[in-house]
Amino acid sequence: MLIDLQQRLAVVTGGASNIGRGISLQLADSGAQVLIIDKDLVQAQCTADLRPGKIRVMACDLSDPLQVQTLGQRLAENEVVDILVNNAGWVASEYFEKKDLAEIDFEIRLNLIAPLLLTRMLVPGMIARKRGRIISVASEAGRTGQRTQVAYSAAKAGVMGMTRSLSHEVGRYGITVNAIAPAMTLPESSEDVGVGSMQTQRNRSPEMMAKIVKAYPMGRVGHPPDIAAAVVFLASDQAGFITGQTLPVNGGFITT
Ligand SMILES: NC(=O)c1ccc[n+]([C@@H]2O[C@H](COP(=O)([O-])OP(=O)(O)OC[C@H]3O[C@@H](n4cnc5c(N)ncnc54)[C@H](O)[C@@H]3O)[C@@H](O)[C@H]2O)c1
Repeated sequence: MLIDLQQRLAVVTGGASNIGRGISLQLADSGAQVLIIDKDLVQAQCTADLRPGKIRVMACDLSDPLQVQTLGQRLAENEVVDILVNNAGWVASEYFEKKDLAEIDFEIRLNLIAPLLLTRMLVPGMIARKRGRIISVASEAGRTGQRTQVAYSAAKAGVMGMTRSLSHEVGRYGITVNAIAPAMTLPESSEDVGVGSMQTQRNRSPEMMAKIVKAYPMGRVGHPPDIAAAVVFLASDQAGFITGQTLPVNGGFITT
């Protein structure tokens, strides 16, 4: 199956590091023009430099709803966005009774409000053009629950709810709306993450990693290209009859 995304513009939030970087690179390799939206412009530019002429970058703090609205308006007025990938996210793992209100608010704004607002701003253009792909990177935490990630899991479950409900509204315009639920997905190299990445703050000992990997039937955790391949497929014409779904890309970590 040859996937051809030429003549398509894909917006990828959080496209600078790790999963978003993998998604941006594979979309570009499939022919799409890519616009990365990220707060870490240095790392975003490093990613763009890997595919000269294919990837542009734009700054935005997606945890700020006003900035997201301004960005959405700018994109709606100046760009023809065919593919929206809501990927940017963040979790600071901590028991819920220890989380302060500001942290809960932040995780909801970045992981749920930003995808809702950006999708709201870009969907009218897709409706007018009668084509579009909206793909959100959710999480297995939002499907099955995860200790120390209560607000984040609530936000990711919300993203899956957005996906299901919006698919009912826009299918008649040829627009599909899907989500992906990764489990643990680690960068392949330290160059794949910048200072904006939550992965830079995680140190896991080899013993801990060996224990984690045992829970994955495929014998390894995920890497960005695993998620990116699913995004590229969902963005393609070939996936035009798949909508309202959340696709687990998790190496069999959770089976349902
Ligand atoms: N990596 C995993 O194990 C895993 C598992 C399940 C779900 N996810 C989800 O996948 C997505 C990507 O995860 P990742 O591991 O690649 O994350 P990451 O932290 O490595 O990268 C996130 C990217 O988003 C950008 N970003 C963060 N906050 C931002 C903000 N306020 N405004 C603009 N940009 C911002 C960062 O600069 C970075 O480029 C997230 O939504 C995450 O919740 C990740």
